[in-house]
Amino acid sequence: MPPTLLRAHLLHTPDSPFAGGALQAFDRGGLVFDDRDGTILALGDADTLAADYPGADTLDYRDAFVLPGFVDTHVHYPQVPIVGAMGLELLDWLRERTLPEEARYADVAYARDAARTFLRLLAGNGTTTALVFGAHFADAQQVFFEEAEASGLRITSGLNLADRNLRPELEDTPDHHYQLSETLIRRWHGRGRLRYALTPRFSLSCSDGVLEAVGALLRAHPGVLMQTHLNESLAEIRTVAELFPEAIDYLATYERHGLVTPRSVFAHNVHVTDSELARLGEARAPIAHCPSSNMFIGSGLFAMKRHLSARVRFGLGSDVGGGTGFSLFKEGLMAYQTQMLLREDGYPLGPAHLLYLATRAGADALGLGDEVGDFRVGKQADFVVVRPPAQSTLATTLRHSPSAEASLGALFTLAREESVAAVYVGGRPLSGRERQDKSIG
Ligand code: GUN
Ligand code: ZN
Repeated sequence: MPPTLLRAHLLHTPDSPFAGGALQAFDRGGLVFDDRDGTILALGDADTLAADYPGADTLDYRDAFVLPGFVDTHVHYPQVPIVGAMGLELLDWLRERTLPEEARYADVAYARDAARTFLRLLAGNGTTTALVFGAHFADAQQVFFEEAEASGLRITSGLNLADRNLRPELEDTPDHHYQLSETLIRRWHGRGRLRYALTPRFSLSCSDGVLEAVGALLRAHPGVLMQTHLNESLAEIRTVAELFPEAIDYLATYERHGLVTPRSVFAHNVHVTDSELARLGEARAPIAHCPSSNMFIGSGLFAMKRHLSARVRFGLGSDVGGGTGFSLFKEGLMAYQTQMLLREDGYPLGPAHLLYLATRAGADALGLGDEVGDFRVGKQADFVVVRPPAQSTLATTLRHSPSAEASLGALFTLAREESVAAVYVGGRPLSGRERQDKSIG
């Protein structure tokens, strides 16, 4: 089978703009990949590559921008119906709107339907890889994995664990959590594009017994990830301090069970102490920065400069349903606006930083930096095709754009799901609303 030559305006950020890397843009770009296993074979000028690969099939997206598939480092599968629940801060938002919705996942048919919708919306927004907070019911988590496998997306997820302070039907014992998580790990971890993430909801809803069980599982299964919440709202942090009077801070409630590792992704981390940052940096534990959620729930503004100084890694998370939608374009814009609002305490982000955070940084945070996140030769051809509707504000702005960087800034500001024309994972199209058929080139 001949390789495929994708022709498009190609943009990617293989080197971190936070460490001197720059946006790489190919106006008449070409990406050659192997159709059988999705491996990228070459990247460069399309006409040159056409001469190098004379037998290649052509995938013609010359009228579109093509970016690496987005990586969402924090998103909740059972929360789509509550996006937009206004007027509530975290703990009230959980009690009044979120947990009642999550209780509905006791119904497996409801859960399967929700899983399909969730995965379709992720892909429809250009996300090809995600770390997904699961349901509290093992059957609902089982059907989520089944649907994730069918979707073709790269999904890491796990059963949501808690044994206090939620609602009785969402809570379970540490021993049972251990058993259920282990069964799901054996069934799903490493199967195709799926992986498992141990998922204690947060210390507020997990006793030491649950956190201890998670630590034991994390040590017993070396490739498995761990995900939870950390330092999101001030009321949450106060409650955790009351529940763990002997812990010096919130992070310590996880540290004492060995949960702070390079395989552990902590969502939010808005109100963080210098000591916690230093320990996160030392442990190489990544953060899921969820800017739209931080603003919507009123949690606070992310201290990006302090994270960078402490060498704490971070990617972007949509945090649906605390976040305001699935679009990592929008999360990039919200990250930018957050840093602008922080003025001299903010980090001056540009379009290349936003692309890096939405792609390569997220891949690194999830331990997939060698496989996806940019268009380097040898990686997988995961990409999103962006073509705005003809009469849209974005189409108008792009027509007048002076540079690739300016175009990228316009994409993050204005592109949403209506501009995502197609999404490919491993060189294969997932959702093809406007997919152009391959023609022999
Ligand atoms: N902390 C514990 N659970 C949640 C949740 O579902 N969303 C957010 N944003 N924070 C949490
Ligand atoms: Zn969350």
